Amino acid sequence: MVTLTIDGKEVKVPQGTTILAAARTAGIRIPTLCYHGRLDPIGSCRMCVVEIEGIAHPMAACTTPVEEGIAVISNSDRIQRIREDSLKLILVNHPLDCPICDKGGECLLQDLVYEFGIDKVEYQAPKPARESLYATPLIRYWPDRCVMCLRCVTACREIKGIGAIEIKGEGYGSQVVVIDAEKCQSCGECLSVCPTGALTENLSRFKGRPWLVERVPTTCTYCGCGCQLELNVQNNRVIGVTTQEGKGVNLGSLCVKGRFGYEFIGSDERLTTPLIKKDGEFKEASWEEALTLVAERFGAIKEEFGPDAIGGLSSARCTNEENYLFQKFMRGVIGTNNVDHCARL
Ligand code: FES
Repeated sequence: MVTLTIDGKEVKVPQGTTILAAARTAGIRIPTLCYHGRLDPIGSCRMCVVEIEGIAHPMAACTTPVEEGIAVISNSDRIQRIREDSLKLILVNHPLDCPICDKGGECLLQDLVYEFGIDKVEYQAPKPARESLYATPLIRYWPDRCVMCLRCVTACREIKGIGAIEIKGEGYGSQVVVIDAEKCQSCGECLSVCPTGALTENLSRFKGRPWLVERVPTTCTYCGCGCQLELNVQNNRVIGVTTQEGKGVNLGSLCVKGRFGYEFIGSDERLTTPLIKKDGEFKEASWEEALTLVAERFGAIKEEFGPDAIGGLSSARCTNEENYLFQKFMRGVIGTNNVDHCARL
């Protein structure tokens, strides 16, 4: 174990712990922007700088490991000025379009600017023209809002192991680009870790503000992994899907289906009544009629050809309980072991 002090408070943490993690252990908050709990420290934003007694330059708490006996100062006038300046430099490029930004209300940059009370930016620079290049119609990239924190690029590589996006260019003119469009799976991991509105989803623009939606925790129904997600519901309509970092078997990650495949829920084309084909055309029917017809047909087939003439295919989109009932129905009611699952189709 390593013993150090942070703001005069003694802290004991295992060797290799960063100053940021040590501070959090001690209940001391250090502001961050590029840091994300599921990614290796990136160290690009300088919001987490701290002073260490005896060291002339401030150090980034998220990338600096603790050392025996060091005395860390997490907050001072100098540190506050550096953090404020870092934010002002970000704002040179970042538009103040919070009222129409989908991320407004859940934007880390917006929160930090508010916390530091920045109401004007003295620094000016010509705005480079940057293209919105992205591989997928589901994800929108707003280059002006990008703060080059590198969370998206790192998450694509470290969490998904894909590496479809990279930073192109140098310095002020650099931007996120897709380097391998075929590799991009549109999973949205990049936009889920974006701390600003630089990466947003195309499906839910202008459908609702974050503070107006009810987040209903549920399990994704697309496959059997059991990923945990939150349906964002407004006016009884699902307008988006979010996750909580580190939560569930998926730890907050989703695939393209879980993150973006929600519009069918409120689709006008969704079937709401059973349909029975009569004279080559589907006609609406009551549940009573439909179930009676199915039972009659199953009975007739069983009678004529035996129960093994019937087979049942269940689905990963059903719950365990539904799948259990289905196989019970096939075995106990129909009388056959011909039961399988879509995962093996
Ligand atoms: Fe440490 Fe960005 S949070 S450098």
